[in-house]
Amino acid sequence: MDAAETQTRTANLILLGPPGAGKGTQARLLVDARGLTQLSTGDLLRAAVAAGTPAGLAAKAVMARGELVSDDIVVAIVDERLATETGGAGVIFDGFPRTAAQAAALDALLEKHGMTLDAVVSLDVDDQAMADRVSGRFTCAGCGEGYHDAHKPTAQAGVCDKCGGHDFKRRADDNAETVKERLSAYHAETAPLIAHYEAAGKLRRVDAMADIDDVAAAVKAAIGRP
Ligand code: AP5
Repeated sequence: MDAAETQTRTANLILLGPPGAGKGTQARLLVDARGLTQLSTGDLLRAAVAAGTPAGLAAKAVMARGELVSDDIVVAIVDERLATETGGAGVIFDGFPRTAAQAAALDALLEKHGMTLDAVVSLDVDDQAMADRVSGRFTCAGCGEGYHDAHKPTAQAGVCDKCGGHDFKRRADDNAETVKERLSAYHAETAPLIAHYEAAGKLRRVDAMADIDDVAAAVKAAIGRP
């Protein structure tokens, strides 16, 4: 993080976009550049599934089908996660909210935790390219860095650029059938939030079909600096 970046004001952001839009990729770049905290409901749910918690047991089959997990489960894990926040540079909500009910719940959670929402960045993409992005994705099992077979391979085959680890994993729900369901859930339940946040004056739109670095520059420009 450079000195100018650390002077960026506190910022709580939502990254909105369909599966494969680059929410996780851009969130991790903002974590590195600005010291923000990434709060990914997908990651929290996968951790709950792996740990076999009651929420994880309820979510497992729903996620495997590519459908949305119930609002009450998701809101509860976000509430629990925000309770551990210690007032850092801000939080990036990655993949939350995804329904009108979750957007209303987020307003209440922000108030409860003494936070405000600064901006909502919509990562605008072409649906047809998303199946390719998602099916080529893999992540480092050690540090979570994300890669893509074609668009973002590791510099050295089989070695993570970030931590030097050698173990990589692919997600069970990154198959053509499930991606179709996830895109359909996005259009039915989540895309309407774009108009909701536009009406609230919070929305910034970014062309997320560009290269990862160009999208990152556009996201930074969209969320601004003091
Ligand atoms: P979640 O884990 O949130 O998955 P998603 O929304 O489907 O999003 P992805 O993680 O697939 O994509 P991304 O936008 O993060 O893209 P990425 O940066 O990895 O949710 C999984 C499931 O959990 C849901 O289906 C649901 O069941 C449940 N769930 C989660 N949150 C929920 C909620 N709030 N409510 C209810 N249920 C919930 O990029 C993808 C690939 O493309 C990578 O390989 C990357 O390297 C590459 N890439 C990224 N940007 C570019 C670029 N500009 N050009 C070329 N390649 C790129």
